Amino acid sequence: MKMSKSIIYTALLCSFSLALSAPAAAAKVEQVFKFYCAQCHGLEGKGDGPNVSKTFPVDPRNFTKAKEMEKLSDADMKNVIMDGGPSASKSPMMPPWSKTISEADADALVKYLRKLCNCKGKGS
Ligand code: HEC
Repeated sequence: MKMSKSIIYTALLCSFSLALSAPAAAAKVEQVFKFYCAQCHGLEGKGDGPNVSKTFPVDPRNFTKAKEMEKLSDADMKNVIMDGGPSASKSPMMPPWSKTISEADADALVKYLRKLCNCKGKGS
């Protein structure tokens, strides 16, 4: 009796975490974005986060401007996200994130930014 109870419990736990995992992936990238990117790029990605002041030498990219975002390939974006602005001859105001976020998070962020611009990258 004891045995079967714990099996049922385990089975319940498994189905519970399976049910959670799909929406969690979508929610997670939003959280990563809000946590690390929104202070500059804005919650909606318009480049108007609370961190941006008049002393910013360049405006953070507005991710909703398809015209600008189309010029970047997915690989370009991932590079800038991981290695920072200067890696693409852009401003060091765009920090490097490779020590902070995972490759998988960076890939998810690129997809997320494509949704914000509703555009495709150069060469894709
Ligand atoms: C401290 C402010 C700041 C934060 C935080 C920040 N960025 Fe940026 N980001 C910038 C600025 C400023 C630019 C514009 C750089 C330029 O055009 O020279 C930029 C540009 C970009 C670009 C476009 C680069 C290009 O080649 O045009 C991408 C993509 C980007 N950021 C993604 C992100 C992501 C994803 C995050 C979160 C993981 C993030 N940024 C966090 C300031 C920030």
